[in-house]
Amino acid sequence: MSESKFTIGVLASGRGTNLQAIINSIEAGIITAQIGVVISDKKDAKALERAREHHIPAFSVDPKAYPDRVAYDTAVVRILTEQKVELVIFAGYMRLITNPILEAFPNKIINIHPSLLPAFPGLHAQRQALACGAKISGCTIHFVDAEVDHGPIISQVSVPVLEGDTEESLTNRILIEEHRLLPRVIQSYVEGKLSVEGRKVFQNGAI
Ligand code: GRF
Repeated sequence: MSESKFTIGVLASGRGTNLQAIINSIEAGIITAQIGVVISDKKDAKALERAREHHIPAFSVDPKAYPDRVAYDTAVVRILTEQKVELVIFAGYMRLITNPILEAFPNKIINIHPSLLPAFPGLHAQRQALACGAKISGCTIHFVDAEVDHGPIISQVSVPVLEGDTEESLTNRILIEEHRLLPRVIQSYVEGKLSVEGRKVFQNGAI
């Protein structure tokens, strides 16, 4: 790890395709930062494997080893701080978070969600979109606050919901856009182009 480079920490619970998009963008020079650490609450997460393949420090932190969510998040913050992380990305991170992490990284945590928030927060956003007959869905990248899938919206991309879509086909259509948008948002942050006032995010230059 370079001392001088902007350092990102990624938290991921699953397959890690968004993590992979970040890694690819760093390797292509599209994101001018480094990933200091990847942390997962699941020891078998494919995201950890992806990190290790690219020689990125990767830790699994087992929730069962901690008495409660606050203690868990305190341990996660310790690792992020040790690695000098300046921006945290939740890339498919499936845990509810608590104050220690929010206080350590105020407006410095970014989440990606597979719907156009505030529609369809929470689990199975694509299933929710299909169930209510939405004609458009998409993805949202937002700063994280104390409520689930709720904080100030940074950027969104829409995709059509097509007749005959399954949860899988809609998920895949949205995922393509997630992988495009997330690296661009991260680079805007790294370049200091994003500012937050209340619930609004202002960007100096297009994302
Ligand atoms: C993505 O759809 C993201 O929007 C949501 O969780 C999924 C993670 O996918 N928060 P992956 O692990 O990055 O492949």
